[in-house]
Amino acid sequence: MSMDLSSLKRTAPVVYKPCVTSTNTIIKGLVPSGIAEGFTLVAEKQTAGRGRMGRSFESPEGGLYLSMLFFPKCAPEDISTLTPCAAVAVRRAIEKVCGISVDIKWPNDLLIDGKKLCGILTESSVYLGRRFVVVGIGINVNTDFSVFPEELQKIAVSLCEKTGETVGIERLAAAIIGELDTMYSLWTENRKYCLDEYRSACVTVGCDIVIICGEERKNARSLGIGEDFSLIAEVDGQIRNVSFGEVSIRKI
Ligand code: BTN
Repeated sequence: MSMDLSSLKRTAPVVYKPCVTSTNTIIKGLVPSGIAEGFTLVAEKQTAGRGRMGRSFESPEGGLYLSMLFFPKCAPEDISTLTPCAAVAVRRAIEKVCGISVDIKWPNDLLIDGKKLCGILTESSVYLGRRFVVVGIGINVNTDFSVFPEELQKIAVSLCEKTGETVGIERLAAAIIGELDTMYSLWTENRKYCLDEYRSACVTVGCDIVIICGEERKNARSLGIGEDFSLIAEVDGQIRNVSFGEVSIRKI
């Protein structure tokens, strides 16, 4: 496995490794060494891929696993808007490379025909008083799902399955990095620059859902996406803005 991403015109390095533990974990560990904003790590396999809510993330060969580092100068509450913007950026890259339009499941999964194509894990922390954010993206590109646990095989989809042909992982990685770079420079100017696109791609709106918060489960109806990309939902007869990280959503 190899990749040539040298055609990307950017100042921050893009490092490729065929196999790593977790691209997010590695970037977080490199922050104290002074790596630059935009530093990107790309891998084709992870042995300890991590998902949201402390879950693991299946990361076999055939997928693309990529993390990018940011030092956003914004209020801590604005950081949560970076992940949905990253979802829009990845969606745009997939459309460019594969010619298919994928759905967004709130807050930041990408789906095809209701099945999971891509997950995004954003982790934020502070080093020596400076806040940093690592956005990690995992996509099933040419994935052979026979290596997945049975329950995941039913709910996962790959780009190759949808397009009917092997997708160039290097080309896709380059497109995603390009779109993330563009997204980040626009996002620093305007936190909701891609809100309309997010709203129209988000399939969670208008559905009966279950809001899962720790042990608690609540039936709700999703009504829309707020200005801060939160999910507006009717829960127990009351309208609530459901925030990222707080809950997991399941369509009924
Ligand atoms: C989720 O769906 O729960 C989020 C999955 C995020 C997976 C990506 S793969 C690249 C980066 N490294 C990780 O360990 N996780 C993220």
